[in-house]
Amino acid sequence: MRRILVTGGAGFIGSNFVRYMRAARPQDRLVVLDKLTYAGNLANLADLAEDPLFAFVRGDIRDRALLDGLFDAEGIDTVVHFAAESHVDRSILGPGEFIDTNVIGTFTLLEAARNSWSGPGGPGGPGGQGAEKTRFIHVSTDEVYGSLGPTGLFTETTPYRPNSPYSASKAASDHLVRAYHHTYGLNTITTNCSNNYGPYQFPEKLIPLMIINALKGERLPVYGDGLYVRDWLHVTDHCRALDAVLERGAPGETYNIGGRSEWKNIDIVNLVCETIDGLVSRDERLAALYPFEGSRKDLIEFVKDRPGHDRRYAIDCTKIETELGWRNDGTFEQRIGETIDWYIQNRPWWEQIISGEYLDYYDRQYGGRLSE
Ligand code: NAD
Ligand code: TYD
Repeated sequence: MRRILVTGGAGFIGSNFVRYMRAARPQDRLVVLDKLTYAGNLANLADLAEDPLFAFVRGDIRDRALLDGLFDAEGIDTVVHFAAESHVDRSILGPGEFIDTNVIGTFTLLEAARNSWSGPGGPGGPGGQGAEKTRFIHVSTDEVYGSLGPTGLFTETTPYRPNSPYSASKAASDHLVRAYHHTYGLNTITTNCSNNYGPYQFPEKLIPLMIINALKGERLPVYGDGLYVRDWLHVTDHCRALDAVLERGAPGETYNIGGRSEWKNIDIVNLVCETIDGLVSRDERLAALYPFEGSRKDLIEFVKDRPGHDRRYAIDCTKIETELGWRNDGTFEQRIGETIDWYIQNRPWWEQIISGEYLDYYDRQYGGRLSE
C-alpha cells in the first residue's frame, strides 16, 4: 500500500490518474494537492468525494509549510507530480507563472520530499523503515526535446532543446529532478510523454477545443498550414504507463511515453468534423441538440501561426515497452471516437467551463469540507 501525494490532481491527466489508481490499486491512499487555477476543476474528481482513502487539499506546490505538514500528517511515501502550467499558448503570452509553478514549484516539492524522506522521522532517516519504498515521479513532456524534422524519433538520450517558455520551464524542472537523484539520492523518475487526449481535457487544447466548437457550430482555428505533427496518446494509456513506472521503474531513470500515433493537426480536425457530422446525421436527438447545415469542415479557418511553433514531435517508447512491459492500447481513430462520445455525453461539464461556473464549484459543492 502506498500513500501517494498527487499534485495537480484536479487537472486533466491528474484526475484521470486518480480515478485510474482508485480502480487499479484500491488500497492506496490518494491525497490530491491542487491550487485550482483556471485549469483545475474539482468537478473532475466529483465521483471520489466520499471515498475514505481519498483527500483533496486546495493549495500551492510553492507553499513549503503546507507541503511539510502534508508529508508529515499523511506519511506520504510517493509523489506523482502533475501540477504545472501546461498550455504553450499561455506561456507565450505570460511566461512568469510557468517559471513560478513549473520551476520554483517543482524545486519546493523536491525539497519537501527530501526533507521528509531523509529527515529524522522519515523513511530514509535514522529509525525509519528505509527509503527504498519512496518514489518521486515527475510527469514531464516530450516538448523538452524541441522539434523534429520529417523523420526521426525522440529517445531518452535526445539532447534537450526546448523552444517555448512552457517547454523550457519543464526542461528546467526535469534537470532539478535529475540533480536531486544524483546529489541527494532521492528516488526520482522522470517520464516524458507525448500529447494526451481524452475525458476532462480543458477545452483550450487542440482536441477538446475542436470537438466542442464543431458540436456548437463555431469556427475551428487551425494554426499556420495545419501540417504540424504530434504523437497522440490516450490519457488512460498514459495512466497505465505511470502505474508501470511506479511499480517497476528504476530510480534515477527517465522513460519516454508515446502513442506511436503521429497525426497532422489538419487531419485530426477533419476526422473530428467527419465523425461528428456522421454521428449527428444518424441521431435525431443529437441533430436537435447540435443543429448544423452542411459539413463542419466548412468551419475550419487557417489562422496566424503560433510563434516558434514546433513542427513535429514523435516518441520512441521502446524503453518503457521492453523494460516495463507497457503497451499502448487501441487505435487513434477508435479512441478519438470514444473521446467525442464523452464530450457529447458530458455537455454540462464543458458548458460550466465555458460559462465560468466551474470556478466556484469547490465552494458550492464542498464549502471547504474536504480541505484546509
Ligand atoms: P492541466 O493544466 O490540465 O492541469 C494542471 C493542474 O495543476 C491543474 O489542476 C492546476 O490547478 C494545477 N496547478 C497549477 N499550478 C499549481 C500550483 N502552483 N500548485 C498546485 N497545483 C497547481 O495539465 P495536464 O494536461 O493535466 O498536464 C499535467 C502534467 O502533465 C503537466 O506537468 C504537464 O506538463 C504534463 N504533460 C501534459 C501533456 C498533455 O498532453 N496534456 C503531455 C505531456 C506531459
Ligand atoms: P496543443 O493542444 O496546444 O498542444 P501542444 O502545443 O502542447 O502540442 O496543440 C496541439 C497542436 O495543435 C499544436 O501544433 C498547435 C495546434 N493548435 C491549432 O492548430 N489550433 C488550436 O486552436 C490549438 C489550441 C492548437
